[in-house]
Amino acid sequence: MCITLKTGNLLVSYNFIKIMSVRQSSDIAKFRDTLKSAKNIVFLSGAGISAESGIPTFRGAGGFWRKYQASALATPGAFNNNPSLVWEFYHYRREVAAKCEPNPGHKAIANYEKLYGPEKTITVITQNVDGLHTKAGTKNLIELHGNLYKTRCTKCKEVLTNTDNPICEALANRGAPDVKVVGSDIPVKVLPHCKKPGCGGLLRPHIVWFGESLETEVLNKAGAFNSISSIVSIMTIKFYILSYLFTQFIVISKDMF
Ligand SMILES: NC(=O)c1ccc[n+]([C@@H]2O[C@H](COP(=O)([O-])OP(=O)(O)OC[C@H]3O[C@@H](n4cnc5c(N)ncnc54)[C@H](O)[C@@H]3O)[C@@H](O)[C@H]2O)c1
Ligand SMILES: [Zn+2]
Repeated sequence: MCITLKTGNLLVSYNFIKIMSVRQSSDIAKFRDTLKSAKNIVFLSGAGISAESGIPTFRGAGGFWRKYQASALATPGAFNNNPSLVWEFYHYRREVAAKCEPNPGHKAIANYEKLYGPEKTITVITQNVDGLHTKAGTKNLIELHGNLYKTRCTKCKEVLTNTDNPICEALANRGAPDVKVVGSDIPVKVLPHCKKPGCGGLLRPHIVWFGESLETEVLNKAGAFNSISSIVSIMTIKFYILSYLFTQFIVISKDMF
């Protein structure tokens, strides 16, 4: 976890532990003082915080599903070419995430909000789609990249929460990360479809894929933190770039709150 100190505000990013540790400062006392006086605190989190809960990151160990690099399936092109394969991948990810529990990192952030929420504005902005911040109890959450348990109709665009497992019969017992299985033979017509009368469009995971823009509404919410400059543009690159844009980082332990 790294901490960026800025006057009156605090931006906390949980990621890139290895990179941050080489830039580490031992000025915990200063961090505590800033934390105490800050009125507006934003936690940023990415795939790294959930790795400890057992959810693989895309580029780390376990970043492959079958023979595919996971990130290659998280694209609109992959869905257009083979929606069944992408649904198998997301069905697998939904099953994995459903079995995982928040770890002490998620819980520390949620507890901090519970303790100090009444007197400070505390927001969690996450790139994660696994729902673990919510499961830990975080209330003020912006999910920049959507959520594994939401679907969006490709025709009418309706977004719905869907925690069914499997999400459709055809995906039952599918999605195993077996490298011998290539592609998907599930016909598109049996994939999840919109139930809205007169629509029937193919549903897709409500996830911001590589190559897509963040939703305007989500961007506006995140953009409300205009006193912490450039959060949104930085978030879509890599957290470690923050370390070059802001001046002071401190690596802290997860239970220091
Ligand atoms: N849990 C999730 O919801 C999840 C997981 C993977 C990918 N994604 C989606 O895919 C996008 C791309 O993912 P990404 O770029 O974050 O993945 P990534 O693999 O590129 O980055 C993960 C980062 O976490 C760090 N990390 C790995 N293990 C860690 C650990 N145990 N503790 C702390 N840090 C650790 C890695 O060093 C890496 O920098 C995300 O923005 C998200 O939308 C979500
Ligand atoms: Zn529809």
